[in-house]
Amino acid sequence: MPGQKIGVVGGGLMGHGIAYLLAAAGHDVGVFEPVVASRASLPQRLHAIAALFGDDPALLRRISAHDQLAPAVKDAAFVFEAAPERLPVKQGIFADLESVVAPDAILASNSSAIPSSDIGRNLKHRQRVIGTHFWNPPHLVPLVEVIENEKTSGEVLQKTMELLRHAGKTSVHVRRDIPGFVGNRLQHAMKREAIALVAAGVCDAETIDIEVKEGPGARMAALGPMEQSDLVGLDLTLDIADVLYAHLDRTAGPHPFLCKKVKDGRLGMKTGEGLRAVDGGIRRRSTPTPGALPGRAGQGEEKESR
Ligand SMILES: NC(=O)c1ccc[n+]([C@@H]2O[C@H](COP(=O)([O-])OP(=O)(O)OC[C@H]3O[C@@H](n4cnc5c(N)ncnc54)[C@H](O)[C@@H]3O)[C@@H](O)[C@H]2O)c1
Repeated sequence: MPGQKIGVVGGGLMGHGIAYLLAAAGHDVGVFEPVVASRASLPQRLHAIAALFGDDPALLRRISAHDQLAPAVKDAAFVFEAAPERLPVKQGIFADLESVVAPDAILASNSSAIPSSDIGRNLKHRQRVIGTHFWNPPHLVPLVEVIENEKTSGEVLQKTMELLRHAGKTSVHVRRDIPGFVGNRLQHAMKREAIALVAAGVCDAETIDIEVKEGPGARMAALGPMEQSDLVGLDLTLDIADVLYAHLDRTAGPHPFLCKKVKDGRLGMKTGEGLRAVDGGIRRRSTPTPGALPGRAGQGEEKESR
């Protein structure tokens, strides 16, 4: 299994992490990154991951960066596309890939939400197109959703699952190629409600973060929502659903509160303010220690590194 040739298209936030984890698993990785500045910063970003893990930086010799697609994906058994989240860009990349890779090379998209069947719609060999949704940062978060589309062959699915498992990832098989797959549907269902609660003045954005981190989030690493439902009993789960569901947010489309933030240029860390004020990191109010004096400037507040 190690020693395969793998192409990564796009050497940005996700692409460099994907390239790293595959090189660390023993593969030779070619990265196509068309933007000079991103290509130039790639070695430094890869070295930072090696330092984080305490890995021998010699493994980075397995990664090569390219300003053209064809040499990056030459002889590739797999290509992972991690280019911007725009359908025409991804469709263009897949069309170019088809003309330079072998017909049996597996073409995987790391799209967060776009079905791979849309990305690969115009290709000749559609059985080798598949979704592989890594989570940011891909070298740290274990999960990769492997999304089969209606044309993906069983062999392509199996080889992709195996490659990722061998690279140490927890690969899960998603059987339908629906927008957002599973993980982002769950995540955005929560974000949708969170934004609506803040917009309605029920609580502020900071309180949402504390609620999630100190409440359900604190146990979610150990107990998934299905396990938790079984634990408390489906009868109780039904009773709560009966009272609650009619009151959950049903705004059609993105909430106007979110749209206005974006329109006003309040984009989060990029601009210094988003749902919360950002000051070189996300500010977090820690749980007050017993006996702490209230009202002191800076007390009970710490900075969370990213
Ligand atoms: N950022 C996340 O948290 C996250 C998580 C999971 C999946 N994704 C998905 O991964 C993909 C990449 O996201 P990202 O956050 O790494 O974006 P990014 O902007 O950091 O990286 C994209 C890279 O692609 C390059 N690029 C631009 N046009 C290209 C082209 N035509 N061909 C090849 N490369 C091109 C850019 O120069 C950039 O370096 C997107 O589909 C995104 O939805 C992102």
